[in-house]
Amino acid sequence: MPASKGEDLLKDSPGAGLAPLGGDGVPLVPGAEADQAWIAVIRKMDETYAELVTQQVELEAKNAALEEVQGFIAGLLGAMTDLLIACDLSGRVEQVNHAAERAFGLKAEALIGRPLADLIDPSSRATAQDVLATMASRRRIVDSEFTFATPDGPEQVAVNGALRFDPRGRAVGIVLVGRPLGELRRAYSDLAAAHEHLKHTQQQLVHAEKMASLGRLVAGVAHELNNPISFVYGNAHALKRYADRLVAYLDQVHDGADAAALKAAREELRIDRARADLAPTLAGMLEGAERVRDIVADLRRFSSDRREAPSVFDLAAVVRAAVDWVAKSQMPDLAIAMDLPEPFEAIGHPGHIHQVMMNLVQNAVDAMESRPEARLEIAGAMAGGTARVSVRDTGPGIPADVISRIFDPFFTTKPVGKGTGLGLSICYRIVAEHQGALDAENHPAGGAIMTLTLPAPEARR
Ligand SMILES: Nc1ncnc2c1ncn2[C@@H]1O[C@H](COP(=O)(O)OP(=O)(O)OP(=O)(O)O)[C@@H](O)[C@H]1O
Ligand SMILES: [Mg+2]
Repeated sequence: MPASKGEDLLKDSPGAGLAPLGGDGVPLVPGAEADQAWIAVIRKMDETYAELVTQQVELEAKNAALEEVQGFIAGLLGAMTDLLIACDLSGRVEQVNHAAERAFGLKAEALIGRPLADLIDPSSRATAQDVLATMASRRRIVDSEFTFATPDGPEQVAVNGALRFDPRGRAVGIVLVGRPLGELRRAYSDLAAAHEHLKHTQQQLVHAEKMASLGRLVAGVAHELNNPISFVYGNAHALKRYADRLVAYLDQVHDGADAAALKAAREELRIDRARADLAPTLAGMLEGAERVRDIVADLRRFSSDRREAPSVFDLAAVVRAAVDWVAKSQMPDLAIAMDLPEPFEAIGHPGHIHQVMMNLVQNAVDAMESRPEARLEIAGAMAGGTARVSVRDTGPGIPADVISRIFDPFFTTKPVGKGTGLGLSICYRIVAEHQGALDAENHPAGGAIMTLTLPAPEARR
C-alpha cells in the first residue's frame, strides 16, 4: 500500500513534533494520550483512503477492459450475417444479434424475454421444441431446419444449436445460429449451374479430342489397309488377264484345234507363264486378304469395352499396331527400332492401352516432324510383375519448365487446331485406372522418353 499520503498527513498533523511513540504505539510521555489517539485515527483514515484510491484505479482499469471486450463482442455479433439467438433452457430469448433483428423486423429489446416459439412459424414449432429438448437433455450440438415467422412471411433457416455453460460447467442456455436457406439454395443453384456449364464444356472438349483420335485412328487403319488391298487388287488384275488367256486357250482345245495350232496358241497366249504365275498370284492375294482380316481383328480387339473385366493381353501386338497405324502412315521414312520380349503381356484393357500407345507415338511423331534423322525406339521389358514399354524419339525433348505440366488437361505447346492438350491427360487417367504408371523424361543424348508401366501376369500369381 502506498504510504506517501499517510506520511504527508503525519507531517502536517497536530501531533507532528510531539514526543515520539514507543514501539507498540504507546505514548512515551503521559498526558499526550489524546493527541496520540488522534494521530492513530488519522493514520488509519489515511490508510483507508489510500486503499480506496487504489481500488478505484483497479476498478477503472477493469471497467475499461470490460468495455473493450463488450465492444469487441458487439462488433462480432453485428458483423455476423447469420442470425444468432441466445435463449435460456426454457426457450426464452436472452440475446439476439443485428441479423436476427433485421430478419424479425424488431429491435433486440422487443425480442428479448419472448419465448422462442413466438418467433417460429407454427409449421415448425414441434420440430423446434424437439431440437431444444434434445439439446438440453443430451447436451449435444444439433443441426436442423426451422421455419421462422418473419414480416416477409415464413423463412426457412438452417439452424445449428449448441448449449451454453456457466463457469461451473452447468448448462444455462442454448445458442442458435441460423442461415436462411433461400440464400443457401440460391448460392447452391448458382454453383450447380456453373458446374453443369463446366461439365458440358469439358464433355465437348473430350468429345473433340475423341473425334481427333478417331480421325487419326481411321487414317492409320486406312493406310494399313491400303497396302494389302492394293496388293490384292493388283494380283486380281493379273489373275483376270491369266484367266482370259487360259479361257481362250481352253476354248481352242474344246473346239478340237490340232496340235500345231494349240502349240502356236500356247506360245501366243503365254500359257506356260500364266500357269506358273497362278500359284504365287493367288498366294499373294491370300496373304493380302489375311492381312486385312488381321487388321480388322485388331480393330475389334482394341475397341473392347472398358466395362469388361481386365484380362491378360498381348502387349506386343498392341504396341506394334499403334506404331503401324500412326507412325508408318504419317512418316513413311521414319526409322523404327523395336525391341520387345517374347511373350510380352500385360493385364488390362487392350483397347485403352492401344489408345495410350497411339497417343505416345503420335506425340513422338509430332516432336520429330521436319527434324533430320527421325528415329523411333521402342523397348519393352518384363520385370517384377510389371511390363514396361518406353517410347523414345529424336525430337527436341520436353523443356524443363514444361515437363511437370504435360499431363495437365489442356496443356499443349502445339499451335491452335493441332493439339487440344488432352492426349496425355487422358493417357494418364487410363494408365492410373490400370494401376500402372506413365513417366516422362528426356534422354541425355536428346529426345523425349515416355515410359508406360503396367501390371503383368506375374503380379497375379
Ligand atoms: N515426345 C514429346 N516430345 C516433346 N514434347 C512432348 C512430347 N510428348 C508430349 N510433349 C509435350 O506435352 C504437351 C502435351 O501433350 P498432349 O499429348 O497432352 O497434348 P498435345 O499433343 O499437345 O495435344 P493432343 O494430344 O490433344 O493432340 C505437348 O503439347 C508437348 O509440348
Ligand atoms: Mg498428344
